[in-house]
Amino acid sequence: MCGIVGYNGKNKAIDILLDGLSKLEYRGYDSAGIAIREKNKEIEIYKAKGKIANLKEKIQNKKLNGTCGIGHTRWATHGEPSENNAHPHISNDGTITIVHNGIIENYQEIINKLEKHGYKFYSETDTEVLANIIDYYYKKYKIGPIDAINRTMVRVRGSYAIAVMFKGYPDEVWVARKDSPMVIGKNDDGTYLASDVPAILKYTNNIYYIDNMEAACLKKDTIIFYDLNGDVIDKKPKKIDWDMAAAEKDGYEHFMIKEIFEQPDVVGKTINSFVSNNEIDFSKGNLSKDTLKDTREIHIVACGSAYHVGVCASYIIEDLAKVPTRVDIASEFRYRKLLLNKNDLVVIISQSGETADSLAALRKAKEMGVKTLAIVNVVGSSIAREADYVLYTLAGPEIAVATTKAFSTQLIVAYLLAIQIAYAKKTITKNKYNELLNELSLLPNKIKEILAKEINRIQKISSEFSNIQDAFYIGRGLDYAISLEGSLKLKEISYTHSEAYAAGELKHGTISLIEENTLVIGVVTQEDIYEKTISNLTEVKARGGYILTISPSKIDVSKTANYQIVIPETNKYFYPSLAVIPLQLLGYYIAVSKGADVDKPRNLAKSVTVE
Ligand code: F6R
Repeated sequence: MCGIVGYNGKNKAIDILLDGLSKLEYRGYDSAGIAIREKNKEIEIYKAKGKIANLKEKIQNKKLNGTCGIGHTRWATHGEPSENNAHPHISNDGTITIVHNGIIENYQEIINKLEKHGYKFYSETDTEVLANIIDYYYKKYKIGPIDAINRTMVRVRGSYAIAVMFKGYPDEVWVARKDSPMVIGKNDDGTYLASDVPAILKYTNNIYYIDNMEAACLKKDTIIFYDLNGDVIDKKPKKIDWDMAAAEKDGYEHFMIKEIFEQPDVVGKTINSFVSNNEIDFSKGNLSKDTLKDTREIHIVACGSAYHVGVCASYIIEDLAKVPTRVDIASEFRYRKLLLNKNDLVVIISQSGETADSLAALRKAKEMGVKTLAIVNVVGSSIAREADYVLYTLAGPEIAVATTKAFSTQLIVAYLLAIQIAYAKKTITKNKYNELLNELSLLPNKIKEILAKEINRIQKISSEFSNIQDAFYIGRGLDYAISLEGSLKLKEISYTHSEAYAAGELKHGTISLIEENTLVIGVVTQEDIYEKTISNLTEVKARGGYILTISPSKIDVSKTANYQIVIPETNKYFYPSLAVIPLQLLGYYIAVSKGADVDKPRNLAKSVTVE
């Protein structure tokens, strides 16, 4: 949520800042702004409401020669989206210029304190409060930037990644963070900072991470890191293997459709990173078979789509490995009275590795002395760094706000985890283990096949349904789990009301919403329970519903379905990976036919770093 970017070096900052902001726009897009400084001259600030394009338009005729600057794209938390509330913000006399990602929880308390000292506030943001509290300490104690920032970090509560320019230090950009992401890089042309790697990947793939309550000073050719005592600390960069092309649209109309098409590749890569010679190897994540063998219960915790992966995983782990598995939404888990045992394993699933609730859930589990495993996409993210074990998905940078390829790679790691636990606990034989891994290796081609075969049909049916008000997704077991994801995809990008139901639950109330031509999508892949779902679909059809099904050819839905999407056959556990593809396409094309901004749906942001 919110994207920040910064540069200090030999080149003009404006191009680097605008390019970086465009790469971060998925994090928030209700306003944007930049602050640029040329040598000792005054800092110039420009802001615009709305997307970055508006900011670009505003500054197109300005001569901005400064080689040092910071920028921001906002997802509003405090105060409406407006130019006045847009970042950068400045302290009362302009000593401090700041951009901020996160939330300051005790901002009102700090306003009260600062007002007593004569400070005035022009915006409704908590960020302006940060600018002024830094200014207050800086002047009161006549200290340098690092001490003013450190005192501020001790005084404020909440989450933040900040980039700060001090009027008296023209050659420096200062940064600090707590619970909000921040990456830093350096090359021969200067130093860079951003909320996420794609914004600076073009310049370097050697990335420095600063930890919570640490700060750094970015000069033109050096970066100095500090701890909370103000002592200099040593940091080594981490090499990121992401391909720059993955962060570009590459001829596709939207990132989302590009990322949908990347799925065969990234699913294959994720399988190969953990499976070799027909053996699953989690040693990269420090996760031994013994740890899995001794696990008593599993608690999967995640948000949104990652939670849906958890729901899939819970069915598979219980069935295959016979380990009781509970799935929790992270924002519930973190405030629930937990009955965790030292032999349990808490599994956090997160693409960004920065989701505030998932991170808090991880910390809570750790506080209780329970082992934690993170399934994460972003290398070096907070969740990845804090968990005991980490299994990385190899989705590469995911830019579209609605997840597709990260979801698919999370499913793969979930399957592998289930298989490995089952094998460690001897609930499956070596033959079954081999059979499952063999079937898993066929998934990338099967996904490719669905994409090749179904894209035109789904595009067509989507345009026919572009005006629908409601849609219902139903299924049982794993089909229910994947219905949850299908429904979320549709609603978040096309703004169509949709709900997912366990098929048998519909008639306990919601069936009253079915009218002539209401779209009901039935996911029907599980052979042991498909007849029940078909009965439920028939009940809906009898009330006028239009039935679209997703099923393998061996399941006969022909008498019930108005429209059938046939997917290849696979092992029963792996159907979510195939069934989700048409569901993603359906959501995408309905959104496109409605003219929605698919990659940046209203009110959303990719990385949810606030509660
Ligand atoms: C939906 C979507 C979100 C995320 C959720 C968790 O398409 O992308 O529901 O899955 O916000 O985010 P991560 O995985 O980054 O923790």
